[in-house]
Amino acid sequence: MHPTTTPPTIETTLGAASPGATVPALIQHAYGNAEVVRPGERVVPALGPNDVAVAVHAAAIDRGTWHLMTGTPTMVRPAIGLRRPRNPIPGRDLAGVVLDVGTDVTGLRPGDRVHGTANGSLTTVAVTTADRLAPVPDGLGFVQAAAMPVSGVTALGAVEHAHVAAGQRVLVTGASGGVGTFAVQLAVGAGAEVTASCRGAAAERMTALGAAHVVDRTTTDPFVTPDAYDVVIDIAGRPSVGRLRHALRRGGTAMIVGGEGGSALVGGMTRQLRAVAISPFVPERLTMLVARERGSDLARLDQLLVDGTVTPVIDSTFGLDEFASAMARLTSGDVIGKVVIEVRPG
Ligand SMILES: NC(=O)c1ccc[n+]([C@@H]2O[C@H](COP(=O)([O-])OP(=O)(O)OC[C@H]3O[C@@H](n4cnc5c(N)ncnc54)[C@H](OP(=O)(O)O)[C@@H]3O)[C@@H](O)[C@H]2O)c1
Repeated sequence: MHPTTTPPTIETTLGAASPGATVPALIQHAYGNAEVVRPGERVVPALGPNDVAVAVHAAAIDRGTWHLMTGTPTMVRPAIGLRRPRNPIPGRDLAGVVLDVGTDVTGLRPGDRVHGTANGSLTTVAVTTADRLAPVPDGLGFVQAAAMPVSGVTALGAVEHAHVAAGQRVLVTGASGGVGTFAVQLAVGAGAEVTASCRGAAAERMTALGAAHVVDRTTTDPFVTPDAYDVVIDIAGRPSVGRLRHALRRGGTAMIVGGEGGSALVGGMTRQLRAVAISPFVPERLTMLVARERGSDLARLDQLLVDGTVTPVIDSTFGLDEFASAMARLTSGDVIGKVVIEVRPG
């Protein structure tokens, strides 16, 4: 599970950060399964005034990485490239060390440990904007730091926008996944009585994260409950809007985060849009999340890590030359937490 190639030293990476330098990267020139992603090189671009070049140590992958790799659902292609990805470097989450900053960047300087997102993180030198980064909390390793940005900030947005509060009964579906493991901890941290819906094999881990109850979704319908929920954070399974409402008390909130599958053209989006459209006409609040990748939100999540409310759950780590295995693991159905690629191990 670790790279066989020798990673570049910090000195060679610092030199390679210069605009025009060529550095290793994973590259995809077509949509498809993991075999379209191949080892290659990228040229480090000149930094814009708000840009930051980062020596990437670790980069997590998630369902979004898979969607961008496969170009699905196809309705997203006008935005990401009609026939092939406009951005050929996969990956968004990263953690590493600042190599260089643009002229208008004030809060960061070379040598700082940062995490956040980039449009293409599976490379030894990623370039992103300062507002997508936050300092890595003291003592946190790069693997854990890389696991936090996309999934953790999504979960934070879901719990906050659902207005989860102390004493509420909260159901989290997809609780064992990248987003779910953060959502369970954040809802518990807010003082809620959390029910985690997941496969039976993940039950023990959910209890360890603070879930008061666990529903094995493979044997029990999580939406049929004698005591209605105040909030459902719906991350996986694509239950119908009717089933979500059935699980809620009058006035309760359904926060739809995601769910795989659906049509090739729009994926699961019709469900979200339907929920939002009917929400004004029903007693429950039906809403959806569109997560933003903001360093300021990540910094707030970091504070919750520092005070012990959340800790990233790492499912497995792979080397940069093991992308196909990492993607196979991500989509295996056996993951608990995050899959992380160590770009520069150690
Ligand atoms: N709205 C946004 O801005 C936003 C941002 C990020 C992600 N998302 C979306 O959120 C969803 C979850 O992302 P993720 O990274 O957490 O994915 P993930 O790591 O793959 O986790 C999803 C979990 O769902 C469970 N699951 C799988 N199939 C299921 C089914 N048929 N019914 C019920 N549960 C099932 C699995 O756990 P068990 O088998 O243990 O149940 C799995 O661990 C994705 O659809 C993603 O695209 C949305």
